[in-house]
This record gives sequence, structure tokens and C-alpha cells, in this order.
Amino acid sequence: MASVEYTWLGRSGLKASRIGLGTWQFSPSWGVTDYEKAREIVKAAFEAGVNLIDTAIMYGRGLSEEFIGRAIRDLGVNRDEIVIATKIPGEMLNYDDVFKATRRSLERLRTDRIDIMQVHWPPCWTNTPTCEYMRALERLVKMGYIEAIGLSDFPVELIESARACLASEDVHIIQVRFNLVELEAEKEHLPYAEAEDMSLLAWSPLAKGAVLGKYSMEDLEGMNDVRSGDPLFHPDNYRQILRVAEVVKELASRLGKTPAQIVLNWLLSYSPVVVPIPGAKNPQQVMENAGAMGWRIPERDWWRLYELARSIKLTRVTF
Ligand SMILES: NC(=O)c1ccc[n+]([C@@H]2O[C@H](COP(=O)([O-])OP(=O)(O)OC[C@H]3O[C@@H](n4cnc5c(N)ncnc54)[C@H](OP(=O)(O)O)[C@@H]3O)[C@@H](O)[C@H]2O)c1
Repeated sequence: MASVEYTWLGRSGLKASRIGLGTWQFSPSWGVTDYEKAREIVKAAFEAGVNLIDTAIMYGRGLSEEFIGRAIRDLGVNRDEIVIATKIPGEMLNYDDVFKATRRSLERLRTDRIDIMQVHWPPCWTNTPTCEYMRALERLVKMGYIEAIGLSDFPVELIESARACLASEDVHIIQVRFNLVELEAEKEHLPYAEAEDMSLLAWSPLAKGAVLGKYSMEDLEGMNDVRSGDPLFHPDNYRQILRVAEVVKELASRLGKTPAQIVLNWLLSYSPVVVPIPGAKNPQQVMENAGAMGWRIPERDWWRLYELARSIKLTRVTF
């Protein structure tokens, strides 16, 4: 077993492995739609000491939560030893919908409590007032259905407003995109999480695999999953990312690690509040990703990657 590192998630009292398991992969978007496959991925995570599972109502419209609930039951895992984080989408945030969505999640996850309920993204089309959903979440904490509240993809100003709505609870977890080639979170979110004693769950920590250099420019043509429309894999961007991937691979071979371990360890080394939640398509990837814990990339190599990553210029204007 990899040497597992654990951390407290903000001031929530929840203790999680520093590397979690993302499960958007359990959906048609990524392709793991077979329960047995999903169960083997979850099993590998628990066997490797990874106890934090991130899911969302939107992943496969309940499929990911359903698979996790079944897997936890079938594997006979001690519920108290795992941390389940799920998310309510920004369109289901009026007071009653927060309750209804939580009840459905509890059913799919086959559990009596959700450790971390995150708002997946702020409401942008439904005009739901911030305090309406924050107070609903606070009530659910009081009732014991939720252990901790998290906010995903919220700008810092809105996190502040959302926290101000709470009377006796707080936000302990923020979740944002953060990886070697998409570093925007270092500008505001990371310093904020550090100053406020929050954990920062880093999504797409492998840049959806782009930064591992496992796909050639020619492979981009045949991509038929969620990545086909992702700016990371637009040739103008991907060409530059491959330059970073070359160094990642070189370091991996010198340090006796894999590219994924280098990239995840780079994030772990960035700040103690960062908790990457890589997705995985098979048990081997889970075990490999868990092996990013328990060691540190040499400082010189960390800086070399950082400077190189800062030198590339990605664009989201791809058409
Ligand atoms: N809050 C949000 O808005 C939000 C948004 C996105 C994601 N998330 C969460 O973050 C999690 C992770 O993000 P993500 O799925 O976007 O991307 P990611 O973790 O950066 O990349 C995952 C993909 O990388 C490849 N991979 C994983 N481990 C590998 C390894 N050891 N070696 C080689 N390839 C490996 C796999 O794809 P292939 O094998 O097919 O290459 C896998 O599907 C999601 O599952 C989800 O829980 C949250």
C-alpha cells in the first residue's frame, strides 16, 4: 500500500486522504457506465487508503451516486471510515429543492448522511438568492443529514457572501479547477483557503490527462468523450501542454515515479490545504494516483515545472 497522507478538511472534523477519488468518470461523459467496473475502481481506492470520494448529482444524472452507494454496500466498507462529498447543481437551489435533492442523494448513496454537500456552481439562470440555499443547507446540517458544507466553482466574493448567510455553521471546503497548467486558483482561491483554514479540493488535477503526455497530437482527432470539446485539447493549447508533459515524463523517469504521480505530488507540495481528487477509469490508475502520497518532489524540480507551466499561454477562445 502507498504511504497514505491524511488531512483535516477545514475545521469540519472530517479526516480525508490527501488524494481523493473523483467519480465524474461514472457517467456517459467519461464512459464508465458498467457497475462492476465502477465497483472495482472504488474497491481499489479503499484498498489504497483513499477514503475521500467526490461525486455529484449531475454525474450521469445520479448514476455516479448510485454506483458509489451500491459499491459501499457490496464491499462492506465501514461507513465511518469514508468521506462522501456530493454536489447539488446550481439549478436546484431553491429552499425546497435543496431538501428534495439531498433526500434523493441520500437514497442513491444508501446512507443516512452526506459528509460534504457542495453547491456545484452558483445559480446563474434561476435567480435563487444566496441566503436561501445556504440556510437550507444549514438546516440540513442541524438535522444531521449533512456533516459539512462546501462550495464549488464559486468566486471568492460570493463565498464570502454565502458564509455571511450562515448563523452557526461555516463553509469548510471549496472546490475549484486547479492543476499544473490551469493555475488560476492560485490568484485568489488558494490564498483565501489558506487564510480561512479551509481545504481546497482540486478538480481536474491531471488536466483531464492532458499534462501526462499520453496522447499524441494525432490522437486528438479520435477523442470522443468529454474531452473532445475541452479547450485543453484544442491543438493550439495541447501543443504547448505537451512541452510541459515532456518535462513531467523526464522527471518521472528520473525519480522512479509515473507522470500522474509527479503532477499530483506537485499539487500536494504546493500547499497543505490542497486535496486533489483525480478521476480514474480503472483500478490501476487509482493505485498509481494514491502513490503520489508519502514523498515530495525535490524543490528544484517543483520550481522547474512551475516556471515552465507559467510560461505557456493557454486560451479558451477556440473558435
Ligand atoms: N466541481 C466541478 O465543477 C468539477 C468539474 C470537473 C471535475 N470535478 C471532479 O474532479 C474529478 C477529477 O477531474 P476530471 O475527471 O475532470 O479530470 P482529471 O482527474 O484531471 O483526469 C482524469 C482522467 O485522467 C486519466 N487518468 C487518471 N489517472 C491516470 C493515471 N494514473 N495515468 C494515466 N491517466 C490517468 C483518465 O482518463 P483516460 O485514462 O481516459 O486518459 C481519467 O479519466 C472528477 O471526477 C470530479 O469528481 C469537479
